[in-house]
Amino acid sequence: MPNDAAGLARTDAEALDAHDPLRACRDEFVITDPDLCYLDGNSLGRLPKRTVDVVHRYLTQEWGSELVAGWSHWIDEAQRVGDLIGSATLGAASGQVLAIDTTSVNFYQLCDAAIRARPNCDTVVSDTANFPTDRYILEGLCARHGKRLVLIDDESGEEFVTPDMLAAHLDSRTALVTLSVVQYRSGALHDVAALTKMAHDAGALVVWDASHAVGVVDMHFDRDDVDLAVGCTYKYGNAGPGSPAWLYVNQRLQGSLRVPIQGWFAQRDQFAMGQGFDRAGGMRGFQIASPSIVGMRCIEASFGMIAQAGLPAIAAKAALGTDMMVRLHDAWLAPLGFELITPRDPARRGGHVTLRHADAKQIAVAMRELVNVIPDYREPSSIRLAMSPLATSFVEVWDGFARIRDLVATGKYRTVAVSSDRVT
Ligand SMILES: Cc1ncc(COP(=O)(O)O)c(C=O)c1O
Repeated sequence: MPNDAAGLARTDAEALDAHDPLRACRDEFVITDPDLCYLDGNSLGRLPKRTVDVVHRYLTQEWGSELVAGWSHWIDEAQRVGDLIGSATLGAASGQVLAIDTTSVNFYQLCDAAIRARPNCDTVVSDTANFPTDRYILEGLCARHGKRLVLIDDESGEEFVTPDMLAAHLDSRTALVTLSVVQYRSGALHDVAALTKMAHDAGALVVWDASHAVGVVDMHFDRDDVDLAVGCTYKYGNAGPGSPAWLYVNQRLQGSLRVPIQGWFAQRDQFAMGQGFDRAGGMRGFQIASPSIVGMRCIEASFGMIAQAGLPAIAAKAALGTDMMVRLHDAWLAPLGFELITPRDPARRGGHVTLRHADAKQIAVAMRELVNVIPDYREPSSIRLAMSPLATSFVEVWDGFARIRDLVATGKYRTVAVSSDRVT
């Protein structure tokens, strides 16, 4: 198969890199192996060099020397860093985002609050392709509150909830609709504004999980009248494994919603340490406990890079990079038994594409072990490959796809054992 079968030679990828307005950003990441094609930034972003300095400075000049006195300026960091996440990536004005806890905890908190805010409704709507933690938490919440959980099933394989599909499941019984902005497996991007409006018209609240969108999709929560949202910071956010997540509560709901865990950070006069819970106003009323300050520093460093680059430029590069993947798939990989399950229209996807193959699990292991390309594998039979715009180059994508092609065309991938690793 010729190397330019897709109408895209390696020199075209080099030209795209040369003209990439974000090309300087790649040099701001720690890259220990220049030969590696790291196409898994949708799962864990690379380490920004500035994070190393920022964390070192925090350890030596803040924690190390200030000791407990540091809390006088650390205390409201969840809100200050939340504002940075909001302005850089969510289209959210200040005072609506907290950087805190995990996506799962934040999802539980906001869904529970939303369900209890509609006591006369008995239905929660999500979809079968939503991220597992969301579905498991909803199962538990619905069992506890005696609600009905309805999961929409898009049988087309694209895992895309259309307005018509949602309309078929919405009525006056619906308390809550919760979906992912970008589907974790197929990469399909939902229409946040349209689906939110439909749910509002039925009287329901909406919780969006934006984990696979934050830092790569240009979102506009305030403009789109989003109610509630959660997401992580370690994927396209590049803030590091297990870095704190975030939650968004639209200003208009902050006075009326109550999260179930009443921790001390939500107490109006926190350091009076008195009897009885008296909830603080604003976003502090949604905070449980102490923020991880080292985590805050990691988010500040990496989301500062996103703010500098700007979401429009980042999203434009993601569209170009995923378009390259689609074209290389069509030319090289489809004839080898691969099938694209991600939407072909760049306006309908995020930063990753997903390819199905009968031997996907073994191919994913062989990519890492034999040809120095890192994807991730998701059941069933799916390989996810991402353009993480600040760190990934077009040549990295082109080389990665050429190596997958050769690995599968030669049948070499069959020589590796399917991994027994718990993490895929
Ligand atoms: C869409 C989505 N939601 C939730 C989570 C869970 O995140 P956490 O482990 O931070 O709770 C993930 C993790 O990858 C995710 O992709």
